[in-house]
Amino acid sequence: MLRVLVVGAGTMGHGIAQVAAMAGYYVYLYDVSAEALNNAMSKIRWSLEKLKEKGAIGSVEAVLSRIVTVKNLEEGARDADLAIEAVTEDISIKREVFRFLDRTMRPDAIIATNTSSLPISEIAAAVSRPQRVLGLHFFNPPVLMKLVEVVKGDSTDNEALKKALDFVKSLGKTPILVKRDVPGFIVNRILHAVFNIACHLVNRGVYSVLEVDSALKYRVGLPMGIFELRDFSGIDVGYMVAKSLAERDVLFSQLCPLLEKLYREGRLGIKSGEGFYKYVAAQKPFIPKEAGDKVDVVTLLAPGVNMAAWLIRNEVASKEDIDMGVKLGLGYPRGILEMADEWGVDQVLERLNRLYLREGLILARPDPLIVEMVRRGELGKKTGKGFYDYESQG
Ligand SMILES: NC(=O)c1ccc[n+]([C@@H]2O[C@H](COP(=O)([O-])OP(=O)(O)OC[C@H]3O[C@@H](n4cnc5c(N)ncnc54)[C@H](O)[C@@H]3O)[C@@H](O)[C@H]2O)c1
Repeated sequence: MLRVLVVGAGTMGHGIAQVAAMAGYYVYLYDVSAEALNNAMSKIRWSLEKLKEKGAIGSVEAVLSRIVTVKNLEEGARDADLAIEAVTEDISIKREVFRFLDRTMRPDAIIATNTSSLPISEIAAAVSRPQRVLGLHFFNPPVLMKLVEVVKGDSTDNEALKKALDFVKSLGKTPILVKRDVPGFIVNRILHAVFNIACHLVNRGVYSVLEVDSALKYRVGLPMGIFELRDFSGIDVGYMVAKSLAERDVLFSQLCPLLEKLYREGRLGIKSGEGFYKYVAAQKPFIPKEAGDKVDVVTLLAPGVNMAAWLIRNEVASKEDIDMGVKLGLGYPRGILEMADEWGVDQVLERLNRLYLREGLILARPDPLIVEMVRRGELGKKTGKGFYDYESQG
């Protein structure tokens, strides 16, 4: 039986440890903070008891007996076949952890990071065997979210990658493969492309927060509006990811001034009582159904399609994995490329041109793949071919 070491027992680490123990793995859980470790074990117990009440698991104690908390990292590292690092999002802390794991773990053990925004290869630069380093990007909360991005670093070898994909499947999760180590991987690139443009449009008074969120929620069918989601996960978290993307990728270089303003003013979303919305007792904002009636949803999602095209053209991800990623990672009712084929790729191009030429938004500069598809007449369902083929379906 494979033994898994989870380093960092915070929001993500404790959930990952629970998921692995539920799948039958023996788990070592480590954190620098004893308090974090104690909290993690209480949260895991609470969650397992809920799952037991729903009949989703058998014995709570049996799962708990497979998780051992360790007081020094070496204890878990010597024995484990796979380490998943989920410590604070800080490159120097992560590198230090990786250096230690690389020295201590068996040469054939795999070392994975759950980072959301740091390049795998920058972290792997700290170790002597970068071929066994990769990204395993779980979504929050790991127990409920089915998706895991498996990220190939510049040096990751295929054997490690295959083992990681098999591991994710054995957890009952769906892996999507990120074939190149690009900032934001698949899901965050698409999320931030859509968010960034929507935020700029609100900042310029083209639409309001309520109009955008209402259109995305009620007309596209997303579980939450994009501004509502930002408030939920924290303006500080969103700002840090946006900044990290901006520093590493020119496409993301135009930070949204409104996001920066909220961050600087400490309006951090639900946790501070105010962000894009105001919160009374952390209640969900009221988003009227009709507020989004006049919004052009293709304009809102075209930047996401554009980013998806960029990912395909740069051989980072397959179209199927991109669509799976937005469905399982962001709760989209359909894949973003499936939607593009329905609207028409020419319609997407027209919106992108408008956003790029009139508004000067770099993320909307039409990707050459989209331009080429329109030139070839591959416009989507109406022409029998777009991102997908429809000919066989008549
Ligand atoms: N929170 C999310 O929604 C989310 C989603 C996906 C990925 N991530 C990524 O997961 C990682 C962890 O995020 P989080 O939200 O769980 O953070 P968190 O702050 O809740 O937990 C981080 C934990 O790491 C511990 N830690 C710090 N330095 C350590 C060290 N040297 N050794 C061992 N433990 C150490 C801290 O004590 C803390 O308990 C980050 O890389 C983040 O980008 C977060």
